[in-house]
Amino acid sequence: MTKTVDVKKGDLLYAGKAKSIYKTDNPDYTIMAFRDDVSAFNGVKLEQLQRKGQINNFFNGFIMQKLEEAGIPTHFVGFTSETESCVKKLDMLPLESVIRNRAAGSIAKRYGLKEGLEFNPPTVEFFFKSDELNDPMLNESIILTLGYATQDQLDQMKDLSLRVNTVLSEIFDKAGILLVDFKLEFGLFNGQIVLGDEFSPDGSRLWDKETLEKLDKDRFRQDLGGVVEAYEDVANRIGVPDYFA
Ligand code: TMP
Repeated sequence: MTKTVDVKKGDLLYAGKAKSIYKTDNPDYTIMAFRDDVSAFNGVKLEQLQRKGQINNFFNGFIMQKLEEAGIPTHFVGFTSETESCVKKLDMLPLESVIRNRAAGSIAKRYGLKEGLEFNPPTVEFFFKSDELNDPMLNESIILTLGYATQDQLDQMKDLSLRVNTVLSEIFDKAGILLVDFKLEFGLFNGQIVLGDEFSPDGSRLWDKETLEKLDKDRFRQDLGGVVEAYEDVANRIGVPDYFA
């Protein structure tokens, strides 16, 4: 199921911490380039990890196609190279949606919870995308008052995030992996809410079901080593192909 697209890459539009976005010859499409850069703590810890760009490109494309198959609209169009994908050009909402099935990271710290505590139902949180302000947490009232999204958009983002959780929890579970938490970003395409950005071990927590070993960016945050090897292990276990082999 190699899905490749033939578009011409144009000028750089935007460079984030791990990805760059380029114009294409089609005004509806951009190219998302996954770099080997890895960062944590709002850019304070920075490194380059060979092959990470390619692994995350294939990982993300694989997941986005699974989500599309489950009826969740995404921006993914197809691969344009080993490290790049063509995506729909979205007007991004300035929000991050975080779903958690277990306690880890900021929620464990904020409420003094034991790491690994199961959440049923899963939690839904929104954060304001702002490096300057360190992505502060938001609630619905603040989002509506400040105009970051409408009630309808917020309802759709919540519903889609929980549907993503259901689809992906099953995929990872079958591979012996716990989907602990993850972050999503949404944007508008022709007025419709569409899943954008990426899904990869850079923006999620994935633990081995038996050993609870961390197989995600916490390996980088916590200096555990074997970051790329862990990403590759997860990719192999869920069946991400080498799309350009
Ligand atoms: P947190 O525990 O630091 O709030 O993160 C929850 C999950 O969301 C974790 O898998 C990492 C991901 N995340 C990002 O990828 N980028 C972000 O800016 C934030 C706040 C979280």
